[in-house]
Amino acid sequence: MTIIEVENLRKCFWTGQVAFPALNGVNLTVEEGEFLVLAGRSGSGKTTLLNMIGGLEVPDQGSIRVKGDDLGSRTRDQRALFRLRHIGFVFQAYNLIRVLNARENVAFVCQLQGHDRRACLEGADRWLARVGLGELQKRRPDQLSGGQQQRVAVARALASKPDIVLADEPTANLDSATGRELIALMKELNREYGTTFVISSHDPAVIAAAGRLVRLHDGRVTGSPGNLQDATASEVRCPAGTLTLTGRLLLAIKELRERNNKPENRAP
Ligand SMILES: Nc1ncnc2c1ncn2[C@@H]1O[C@H](COP(=O)(O)OP(=O)(O)OP(=O)(O)O)[C@@H](O)[C@H]1O
Ligand SMILES: [Mg+2]
Repeated sequence: MTIIEVENLRKCFWTGQVAFPALNGVNLTVEEGEFLVLAGRSGSGKTTLLNMIGGLEVPDQGSIRVKGDDLGSRTRDQRALFRLRHIGFVFQAYNLIRVLNARENVAFVCQLQGHDRRACLEGADRWLARVGLGELQKRRPDQLSGGQQQRVAVARALASKPDIVLADEPTANLDSATGRELIALMKELNREYGTTFVISSHDPAVIAAAGRLVRLHDGRVTGSPGNLQDATASEVRCPAGTLTLTGRLLLAIKELRERNNKPENRAP
């Protein structure tokens, strides 16, 4: 069954008065249980596409349906709830909470989902054992190697029983042997639990492990016959030159928020 349907997806990012097209008409369908790798050069739109699938960004044009839900028409809160229920994330830089130990990190999303703390911690122990870290539950992230931290992140992503795991360059900070072990583990979990995986990567080991490989180039899918039109289309479509007054105000608010959210700008 189809779990992700992306149709003619377009996204522009504004920097000052200039718009840059990050996604430029992406079409993609992902079936339940796939182990799909998104490859493509830096700047080709991999992270933007993953963020759209996870509801972190919304399209300018086109549609994105995940489990039949049209994410572009949902509010920020509805998308956050959708993520909590259906999506597990694995990031390049692990993104564990540094004041929590491994088991507390893995239990965290389960607790956010409203489950009992003790049951979540017990579940976390089982997940940590499953990813080969049974002995290290009490260690904090800074007491673990990069490969171990990424295993914790994989356990955290799966512990919430998501339908889809989105992994953005999960092996990029690991040495090649550790990266190969990590991707083998993710593939095992994909087979064992039937969870759909969408992974962005340049890593040849990840590309070799792909159940299906999709390449992005300049914000479009290439190399797939169904998307030939995207691959050959050359026009770049962002709204022309200037923004409306409302657009400028929204952009200014967004930039202000982003600036205030940077750690160095936060109030002590
Ligand atoms: N918040 C943003 N503001 C402005 N431009 C952005 C923003 N996010 C992404 N872009 C631009 O959109 C394009 C696609 O970026 P994206 O991060 O999706 O690429 P990527 O394929 O993940 O690259 P990498 O392999 O380097 O991670 C890039 O040209 C990038 O500069
Ligand atoms: Mg990226």
